Amino acid sequence: MEVQVYIMNNVFAITSGKGGVGKSTVATCIAAAAQRLGKRVLLIDLDEGLRCLDVMTGISESVVLDLADVFNGEAVENAVYPLPEHNGVYLLPAPALRGGIEDEVFGELIRQVAKDYDMVIADFPAGIDMRLYKQMPDTTRFITVTGPDPVSIRDAGVVADNLEAIGKMYNRLIINRFDYSYIKSGVYKGVDDIIDSSRIQLIGIVPNDITLTLNQAKGKIAKRGRAVKAFNRIIKRLEGEDVPLPKAKRI
Ligand SMILES: Nc1ncnc2c1ncn2[C@@H]1O[C@H](COP(=O)(O)OP(=O)(O)OP(=O)(O)O)[C@@H](O)[C@H]1O
Ligand SMILES: [Mg+2]
Repeated sequence: MEVQVYIMNNVFAITSGKGGVGKSTVATCIAAAAQRLGKRVLLIDLDEGLRCLDVMTGISESVVLDLADVFNGEAVENAVYPLPEHNGVYLLPAPALRGGIEDEVFGELIRQVAKDYDMVIADFPAGIDMRLYKQMPDTTRFITVTGPDPVSIRDAGVVADNLEAIGKMYNRLIINRFDYSYIKSGVYKGVDDIIDSSRIQLIGIVPNDITLTLNQAKGKIAKRGRAVKAFNRIIKRLEGEDVPLPKAKRI
């Protein structure tokens, strides 16, 4: 008899040590890139009290229910909002106030939605509060975001160590807001040095690209531009394709 083992590797957690490095941007752009490959994606905003994905994706006006309501017994389907222009991407907004996420119920919720979507992407707040990380399945694919600056690189390494300590072994690095001119002029370290300092395996490099910010300001996820191309490469790598990095000056 054939026994099927269900390995939950469709759950992603976007993390960083330092704040403001681009986690929420990465979360939305990976979701949109996955959708372009035909996937049904659930984005979960975990920044309770400081939610942002509803604004970034232009649905804040229509949000009535959020994660806190789900913990109070509301069906998940009722608190999930489809994103306009990205057919197949849905958002579960964070509680508007702090304290709405209950650890163990959260763990159960993640396991439940993982069955209903091709991909679940949880956008975490910055830092090393391990409370919710612990509730994620051990097979969760963590993606740690860093900028090219020394502080966020060191902090990414701290997150990696903390994740390893609780048995979350899959962690990949995105270097965000990459600008070759800063490396060329010696301001920042090169890519190999960033990887060495963070001690995390690289999954992609995203250029500094104002297109992302301009779209966010209008409540949209960018569909074109250099950064979007980088996300298209990243999603293919996450799917197991061997997509080489462009030369640093072409990223
Ligand atoms: N690759 C990029 N190029 C240009 N701007 C970017 C890029 N990535 C993110 N940004 C900008 O950086 C700012 C912070 O991004 P974002 O909110 O995604 O960071 P965060 O890590 O989620 O922050 P927080 O720690 O507060 O949750 C935003 O204005 C966003 O548009
Ligand atoms: Mg964020």
